[in-house]
Amino acid sequence: MTMPATPVDVPAPVAPAAPYTVTLIPGDGIGPEVTDATVQILEATGISFVWDRQDAGASMIPMYGTALPESVVSAVIKSGVALKGPIATPVGEGFTSVNVALRKRLSLYANVRPARNLPGVKTPFSGIDIVVVRENSEDLYSGIEHVVVPGVVESLKIITEKASTRIARHAFEYARLNNRKKITGVHKANIMKLSDGLFLECCRKVAREYPQIEYTEMIVDNCCMQLVTKPQQFDVMVMENLYGDIISDLVSGLVGGLGVTGSANIGEDATVYEAVHGSAPDIAGKGYANPTAVLMSGIMMLRTFGETDAANRVEKALYAVFTGGKHFTRDLGGTAGTADFVQAVIAAME
Ligand code: NAI
Repeated sequence: MTMPATPVDVPAPVAPAAPYTVTLIPGDGIGPEVTDATVQILEATGISFVWDRQDAGASMIPMYGTALPESVVSAVIKSGVALKGPIATPVGEGFTSVNVALRKRLSLYANVRPARNLPGVKTPFSGIDIVVVRENSEDLYSGIEHVVVPGVVESLKIITEKASTRIARHAFEYARLNNRKKITGVHKANIMKLSDGLFLECCRKVAREYPQIEYTEMIVDNCCMQLVTKPQQFDVMVMENLYGDIISDLVSGLVGGLGVTGSANIGEDATVYEAVHGSAPDIAGKGYANPTAVLMSGIMMLRTFGETDAANRVEKALYAVFTGGKHFTRDLGGTAGTADFVQAVIAAME
């Protein structure tokens, strides 16, 4: 497979200079393994980084009384950029998700997730090159829930003109910067006429400012069906938080799963690059986690820094390793360990 003509890129809220100070949040489970692997590969480019390591997650609670110590938030605000591993969240009880808390504290309003076929990774479809732009700050994730009467719970979906316009503009700017041709606004405005109706109204308004980019709309249920039958029709997709959460995982699945998809959470003052997968407690510490997703996020980070040559070198090496097919980790049907994979990518780097 040839390198894509259009490199994945993200409009940059910060443009620091080398040596790049990056807040490194290794996270839980396989987090330290995959972030360490990514650091090794990024450093092999010869670019100098200062890694400001910060810990967050359940293990911080005894010392700080919170899973997200204030020092972590301040460190990201100071550096403006973080590379983060997954952080575990207890289900149905316990502390609030550190990931969601970090997004809220840093106003990381846009989640950008590119997904593209990788050579040698067998999937039902070829020719997929989709970028999901998800609104990250509101919708049903506002966390406004209450018990109306016992047995009846109300959860509020908040959609604002401000956040919808901001994410629509982000998607169109992304498309413009990356020479993308088409944006699909995903919605359920046939049922949620007011909330999703407002979201669409904002998208349409922004779309009028970008006549060179085709803008279409699709109802979310049909969109899921279209994605698993004719995914090549999609280019950039923009949507509210909940639809984005689900569809971005679906899109990752089209190209090989969560282990191979990177992402950026972008705010006005900071960007957090992270894998889309979780802490994988079932394989943590065993040395065979696939670091590709965090590495993909690291490549996005290099592009945001303007380090295009280095980003291309890493991406090309990664593609070469995948093409060779000898160093697939177990999630992709191979037997390579994380360390073998890292060595193979570094060896393939020109
Ligand atoms: P998960 O993504 O951790 O694991 C799902 C399956 O995928 C497991 O079989 C795991 O072994 C495999 N897997 C995931 N990443 C892999 C990788 N890089 N290499 C090889 N195999 C990989 O999802 P799960 O089990 O639902 O969540 C575990 C924990 O992670 C939960 O506490 C959850 O809250 C947290 N989580 C954190 C996220 C974040 O920090 N952004 C995102 C998603 C989940």
